[in-house]
Amino acid sequence: MRFQGKRALVTGAAGGIGREVVARLRAEGARVVATDRDSSRTDAEAHLDGDLLDPGFCDGLPGAARTALGGLDLLVNNAGVITRGDITTVTDEDYALTMGVNVDAPFRLCRAAIPIMATGGGGAIVNVASCWGVHPGPNHPLYVMSKAALAALTQCLGRDHAGQGIRVNAVCPNEVNTPMLRTGFAARGFDPDKAVEALNATVPLGHIAEPDEIADVITFLASDAARYMCGALLEVNGGKPVG
Ligand SMILES: NC(=O)c1ccc[n+]([C@@H]2O[C@H](COP(=O)([O-])OP(=O)(O)OC[C@H]3O[C@@H](n4cnc5c(N)ncnc54)[C@H](O)[C@@H]3O)[C@@H](O)[C@H]2O)c1
Repeated sequence: MRFQGKRALVTGAAGGIGREVVARLRAEGARVVATDRDSSRTDAEAHLDGDLLDPGFCDGLPGAARTALGGLDLLVNNAGVITRGDITTVTDEDYALTMGVNVDAPFRLCRAAIPIMATGGGGAIVNVASCWGVHPGPNHPLYVMSKAALAALTQCLGRDHAGQGIRVNAVCPNEVNTPMLRTGFAARGFDPDKAVEALNATVPLGHIAEPDEIADVITFLASDAARYMCGALLEVNGGKPVG
């Protein structure tokens, strides 16, 4: 019961990784506010749904979570979008969407959550970045730059707020078997099962990550087992480098 008495806010709670994170936190004693566009199918103590592209929604969410749970100890910035295509093919709308969800929202949520955590004596924030934000891969400049910004934000906040007892760290997965990956294959005309099978063969451990394999590392960083970690970028890649 690593999270007994803890109060958590998890974004992207309806998604592949987010659902696992919420379930694990609750199984180990946390009370959780789930947020997504519609998180009603994820069991949680409260659902505060909305659009992370709305600045006012993001600014108010940590305070609303504190009101719902009586405090806020943990924030998992997990929501994200992936935009594909080299720079000549992406649009202004792609830019606004990618930076809005992957960078602006975690920025606003951290900015609002940190004073609340500081007042409560400390806390932990886990950002879900990507290996691709640390080692740029081909043909995804928007996604790569957004995750690089989130990684840099994590390092800055990890340093700036350690003195307040607030640990800020990031998980950087390579490919994960979630709707994000599978709908991308489907949109490009591939059978998602066959495409995942082909990807599995490229990973030294023999398979791309399942959501629980990423959620385990997110909950580790949120837990006291990681009590001396601040500003870390943990790559979780099954031995597969960015190609
Ligand atoms: N799947 C992968 O291969 C992979 C690899 C590395 C990193 N990641 C990161 O992991 C995180 C979780 O992704 P996932 O794979 O579980 O994908 P997912 O698509 O299953 O979940 C992402 C969730 O974010 C939510 N979201 C997106 N835009 C939103 C908005 N404007 N307002 C509210 N909610 C919004 C979606 O509704 C969705 O439920 C993301 O940050 C992603 O970039 C995923």
